[in-house]
Amino acid sequence: MWYKDAIFYELNVRAFADGNGDGHGDFIGLSQKVDYLAELGVDCVWLMPFYPSPLRDDGYDISDYRNVAPLYGTLEDFKHALDALHARGIRVIIDFVINHTSDQHPWFVESRASKDNPKRDWYVWSPTDFRYKEARVIFVDSLSSNWTYDTTTEAYYWHRFYSEQPDLNFDNPEVRQEMLDTMRFWLDMGIDGFRVDAVPYLFEREGTNCENLRETHEYLKEMRTLVKVEYPDCILLAEANQWPEDLIPYLEDEFDMAFHFPMMPRLFMGVRQGSNREIINILEKTPPIPPHTQWCLFLRNHDELTLEMVTHEQREWMWQEYAPDPKMKLNLGIRRRLAPLLENDPRRILLLHAILFALPGSPILYYGDEIGMGDNIDLFDRNGVRTPMQWDDSLNAGFSTAETTYLPVIDDDGFSYRKVNVATQQGNPDSLFHALKHQIAVRKQAPIFGRGQFRVLDAGNEAIFAFERRLEDTAPVVVLANLSDHAQTAMLREVNDYQGSQPKDILTDTPYHPINETPYTVALQPYGCLWLRLEQKGS
Ligand code: NOJ
Repeated sequence: MWYKDAIFYELNVRAFADGNGDGHGDFIGLSQKVDYLAELGVDCVWLMPFYPSPLRDDGYDISDYRNVAPLYGTLEDFKHALDALHARGIRVIIDFVINHTSDQHPWFVESRASKDNPKRDWYVWSPTDFRYKEARVIFVDSLSSNWTYDTTTEAYYWHRFYSEQPDLNFDNPEVRQEMLDTMRFWLDMGIDGFRVDAVPYLFEREGTNCENLRETHEYLKEMRTLVKVEYPDCILLAEANQWPEDLIPYLEDEFDMAFHFPMMPRLFMGVRQGSNREIINILEKTPPIPPHTQWCLFLRNHDELTLEMVTHEQREWMWQEYAPDPKMKLNLGIRRRLAPLLENDPRRILLLHAILFALPGSPILYYGDEIGMGDNIDLFDRNGVRTPMQWDDSLNAGFSTAETTYLPVIDDDGFSYRKVNVATQQGNPDSLFHALKHQIAVRKQAPIFGRGQFRVLDAGNEAIFAFERRLEDTAPVVVLANLSDHAQTAMLREVNDYQGSQPKDILTDTPYHPINETPYTVALQPYGCLWLRLEQKGS
C-alpha cells in the first residue's frame, strides 16, 4: 500500500519543461527534470492528459486513447520519461478520461455521421433535449444545457462538459470493453495507476441527477477487478467532486484513493477566519474509510478552486474574500493559484501544507506551488493557473528556448519568474522550496501521518486546530496549528494518556516542556504549526 505514505505531485507535461524548443513542454523535457522531483521528495507524479487532442479542454478532450500528442513527443519519449522517473523511485499515474472523448475522436466522427453507423450507439443520442433534466450543468459559465443539437442527423448528443466533449455511452458493452482494454495498454507500458476523471457521470438514468448511479458503481468495480487481478501494485484514484458520504461507495471495492474535495475550501476558510470551526465540521462529516484506502488531500490543482461542496453562504463568502476581482471567478470557483490566494505569505503557505501533510490522507502538490508561482487572470478559462513552470530567471523562465511559449510565463510585479523560480530558491536555504522540501522530508520519516488513527483535540482556543495521530508502536504526534495572525496559546486538557511524556516538535527538532500538568499549555506564533511527537521519558 505504497500510496498510503506517498507524496503526490500533479503536473501537466505541456507546462513543465520544453525539451525540443517548440514552446510546449514535452516528455523529453520532463525526463530532464526528474532529479528536481526527486530532490523535492516526490513519490508519485500524476500526469494530466497528454494524449492526442484538439485541446478544447486542455487535453481532457481525447481524440486517441493509445498515443501521445505529437506536441509532447512519442510513445517512446513517454516510455523514456517513465523509465527515468522509475529509476529515481518515482511512480507515475496518468489521467484517464473515460466519461467523454473529443468530438474529433474518430468514434464520434463516425457516430454523428449517420443514425445507422456502427458507432452511433457509442455516444448518448436523443431526438429531444428534454431528457435527464435533473442533471446539473457543470461548466455553468459557458453552457446552459448538457445537450447539443447536431444537424447532420438532426438529433441531440449528451455532454457533461463542453459540447466538444461528447459523453460515451457506457450502456454499450463495446464502450465498456474498449476502456478496459485501453487501461491494459497503459498498464502494460508500466504505469503505476490512473487518476480517473469525472467518474460519477458514466451512466445516465431518467429521474435521477445522473451522478453516482448503481450502474456506474458496477462498472467501476469491473475496472478495479482488472487492475487488482492483473496489476496488483497499481492504483486507481477517483476524481469525484462529491460529499464524503457519497464518496464511500467509491472506496469500497472500486478505488484505492479519492480526492477529498470538501476539505480543501475549508482549509482556506480556516486560515482566513482564524477559526477551526469549518475544518472540524467537515472532518466530523467524513465517515471512516476502508483500511486499504486513502484520501488524497490537496490545496490547489489545475482547475478552479472549486466551491461546489460548500453552502451558498460559504461560497459567497469565499468569493468575497478570495476573488475580489470578478475575473477571478470561474463557474462555481476561483481561478487562482495558491500563493496569490494567500497573499504570498510564506507563513500561511507553510501552515496549510503542515496541516495537509499531517491530516489522514496522502498529500498532492500542484506543480509550481512549491515555489509560490503566481497566476494570470487575463488568460482564458483555467489557463491562468497552467502557465510554464519557472525554472530560472533566463528567457521564458528557463522553460523553453522558443520565441513564444504555449502560454506566457508569469512576469508581473509580484510573481515574475525573474524572482520566483526554482534556481533562485534552490540557492536560498530560507526559500519556500527548501521549507516545503523539509516538511516533506519530515513527513516521510513519520508513517504515522499516512497510516495512523486521527482524533480532533480541544485546544481551548478556536484559533487553534489541534489533533492527535496515533499508530501502534510509535510515539503519538499532536499537531497544533494556529490559524490566526496573532500569537495564541493552546490549552490541551485531554492529555491524561500523555502524562510524563516529552514533546518534541519534529519540524524544528525543538523539545517542549514535559507534560506534567493539565491543561498542557503551548504558545504558538501567528500561523505557526507544531508537529509534537510525544516521546516517553527514557525512550
Ligand atoms: C475534471 C478535470 O479536472 C477538468 O480539468 C476537466 O475539464 C473535466 N474533468 C472534464 O474532463
